[in-house]
Formats: sequence, C-alpha cells, structure tokens
Amino acid sequence: MHDLLKHMARWYGTFGIDCFLHRVPQSSTQNLPEYTGDTGQHQGSRKTCEAASIEALEMSVRSIDCPLKRMAKNTVFADGVPEADIMLIGEAPGQEEDEQGKPFVGQSGMLLNNMLLAVGIKRSAVYITNVVYWRPPGNRTPSADEVALCLPYVMRHIALAQPKVIVLLGGVAVRAVLDTNVPISRLRGVNRKVLGIDVIPTFHPAYLLRSPNQKLQAFKDFIALRKLMDKFNG
Ligand code: URA
Repeated sequence: MHDLLKHMARWYGTFGIDCFLHRVPQSSTQNLPEYTGDTGQHQGSRKTCEAASIEALEMSVRSIDCPLKRMAKNTVFADGVPEADIMLIGEAPGQEEDEQGKPFVGQSGMLLNNMLLAVGIKRSAVYITNVVYWRPPGNRTPSADEVALCLPYVMRHIALAQPKVIVLLGGVAVRAVLDTNVPISRLRGVNRKVLGIDVIPTFHPAYLLRSPNQKLQAFKDFIALRKLMDKFNG
C-alpha cells in the first residue's frame, strides 16, 4: 500500500490534479476474465523474418525499400537496452523521431519517460520500438499495409529481445501485435501473452496528451507493470 501511495504521489507530481479528478470505472483493471476473442496467432500474416540476432534484424529492416521509407529521413529501429526486462512498442515515428532516428523523443516521449518514472522505472532501463519504422507523412496513422510490412520484423524483434513484459502503446500497436480489433479499453487489465511473454496494452501517450481524463487509467496500467516487474524480480 505504501508503494502504491508513493507511485500515486509521483504520478500526481507528473500529471497534476486532473488525473485524480476522474473516477475510474469499477471494472478498470482488476479481476477481469482472460480474453478469449481473437487468436493472437497472426493468421493474416504469412511472412516471417528469420534474423538470428537483433543486429541482423536491424540490418534487414534498414535494407527494406518501401514508399514510406523513401519519404522519411531516417529508419527508426529502436532505442535503449535490447536485454531490458521491459519492451515498449508504439505506433510509428513522428517528426522529431524521424529527425533523430530514435523512437519517442518528442512530446509523447517526454510523457512516456515521466509515466515510467512515476512508477520508478528509468527510460534508460527499457527497450523501445514501434510497429512501423518510418514516419508516415504528416504523422497520419500508418495504413494496414504499412503495418503488415513491418510486423514480421516486429514479431522477430520480440522473439530475439525476449523481454519479461511488453507494453503496447496505443491502438495501432495493440491491433498489430495482439492481432485483434478489440479496443484497448476492453483489453486493459486482461491477462494475455504474445510469444509466451506478458503483455500490458495501454493508451498511447499522444492520446493521453489529448485526453488527460484517461491518465488515471494509464497510471493503473503502469502500476500493473511495476507489480509484474516486482514479481519477476522477487
Ligand atoms: N509515437 C509513437 O508511436 N512512436 C514514436 O516513436 C513517437 C511517437
């Protein structure tokens, strides 16, 4: 309980009063049944990637030629520690990410860093990537084809990195990696795995910037992440 209060105080310090002004529906994260809808087996995706290491995978990704890549300044592959216990997967690079060649370095990234810190996790201790490696023009949502092109590499990335927990940030990442059309609001708090690894689906930081009334829900997801990590680390 003490820890929870500590995290709440940090979260409050990060996000201000608005995150506590909104009541959380009773069903928010606890004791939800295991989700039994879509398969999570990526049945639509026939292609696989066989890279034997993350370095080889990065080379394969960098050698892809596609329209999105031709319009982008950089391929944004990943940032952080590949051996980290936590792997976060977002949607696609924005303008700053495209310029710097790193995921989550803009405004959303700052919020993400603070969300992690609020539960005592440093950005330098996690591994971050996206389901699409190039910035869609004007920051539009990546198309289904663009996601499908990258997905085999993303799945291989997960298999090679072998994190203990995957955090999926936003609907595009959730739909791609969990192979589902169920909205995040219904998936949150449900025990589920991809390639045998625990998955926490949560809202995208950019969405939270636009919809601060959802921050408390996201806080609960990050508390769940903290608890999972504490369980793994004894
Ligand atoms: N939003 C994302 O989904 N990924 C990034 O890298 C930056 C913003």
